[in-house]
Amino acid sequence: MNFELKTLSLSAAVAYKCDLLVLLVPEGFQPQSDALSALIAGALKAGDLETKPGKLLSLYAPAGITARRLLLLGCGKGSAHAVRQAVQALGAASKAPSIKRVALVFAMDCEAGAVGAAVRTIADASYVYTATKSKAEPRALSRVTVGVADAGAVRSEFATASALVAGIEYAREWANRPANHATPTLVGDAANALSKHAGIQCKLHGPAQVAKLGMGAFLAVAQGSEQPLRFVELRYDGAARSQAPVVLVGKGITFDTGGISLKPAAEMDEMKFDMGGAASVLGVFRALAELRPAINVVGLIPACENMPDGRAVKPGDVVTSMSGQTIEILNTDAEGRLVLCDALTYAARFKPAAVIDIATLTGACVVALGGLRSGLFASDDELAGQLIAAGDAAQDPCWRMPLDDEYAEGLKSNFADLANVAGRAGGAITAAKFLQSFVGDVPWAHLDIAGTAWKSG
Ligand code: BES
Ligand code: MN
Ligand code: ZN
Repeated sequence: MNFELKTLSLSAAVAYKCDLLVLLVPEGFQPQSDALSALIAGALKAGDLETKPGKLLSLYAPAGITARRLLLLGCGKGSAHAVRQAVQALGAASKAPSIKRVALVFAMDCEAGAVGAAVRTIADASYVYTATKSKAEPRALSRVTVGVADAGAVRSEFATASALVAGIEYAREWANRPANHATPTLVGDAANALSKHAGIQCKLHGPAQVAKLGMGAFLAVAQGSEQPLRFVELRYDGAARSQAPVVLVGKGITFDTGGISLKPAAEMDEMKFDMGGAASVLGVFRALAELRPAINVVGLIPACENMPDGRAVKPGDVVTSMSGQTIEILNTDAEGRLVLCDALTYAARFKPAAVIDIATLTGACVVALGGLRSGLFASDDELAGQLIAAGDAAQDPCWRMPLDDEYAEGLKSNFADLANVAGRAGGAITAAKFLQSFVGDVPWAHLDIAGTAWKSG
């Protein structure tokens, strides 16, 4: 989709050519002397329009206005959060086949973050999945003009949001793909495709190299599948080599059957999304390609399937991880931590400023936090604070969870240095404690996105 930013007053919007003109109307709206102002003021006075975010009034072919359809959206005080709620109310209108060009005009001065929120939300609302539909209509909406009182003042916020949209859509596309259209090989290819952008490099490691690295935990998960594993290593170099990178690690289980500890059949299809963490790493790199910030970032994705098979790893098997720690695999369905632990060990070689892993790791996190906030676990308060602030700014919030050492008690094993599962209680936390024993001293954070990466259906 194409976004453009324009300085557009309400009086200019009157004659603006588009299929749908959307006006964001705040509390205490100040009418000017144009036809749209008069229309809004009249609708407010009659009580036909409310300014609460999410309230809307839809008009067809309004007299004296060029746009065919006009939508007035209340947006409260105009904060980023309120603008997001308002634009979400667009709903089906943004997917209608007859609407190819939309203009979204702020009938007020913009609060910081509001324009970015509008861009991200309209992209989100108009997204349609098409990858595996033979007769799918592609997304009709091809051009969105964002009109504000002073384009210069919000230009960089707008550019950032457009880059984020490119990244988010890349992540969404890969997370949505069925497992046979997003195999470890194809996920590796998707990462490699990003290296066509300046500043991005990609290395793909196959089974032989992963074996040579000694990633016994990752190999154990992959061994039950016909699909060869991939270990993706992405680099974005925007700063001097001497500047320590941030390493992002994304869980890339392209399908999670549970393995020999097989999952129930109902809703097992949803486990195609078990590479949502990997998809977010791909999306970050897609956005980096556009934003080109002066930082260094490494992206690591251990990608494989978790399948039951004659060769599959069995409950009770003990494997040796790359760190040298041995692991008793008591439950083959706790596979995410097994692929992640070797990637976290590998991360140390970059002498990172911080390591952040992103994973659809536990059903327990879904129980704890539902679908609104991701679980955040962090060994470092400053890193935790930065991630919480970033989540709030992006309306993709997280919630900090504890990491007391007592939570690791249950991971003790009689047959190995540690077990891959503890009891049911505090399952999201014990998973995080497992990962923590592979990170050493670097500032580390773990985002459990099991609840936030997927909406049923
Ligand atoms: N991919 C799942 C986590 C998951 C479960 C995400 C449900 C979203 C919804 C993960 O690999 C898993 O199976 N975890 C187990 C861990 C358990 C065996 C300790 C779980 O959460 O049930
Ligand atoms: Mn699992
Ligand atoms: Zn999983």
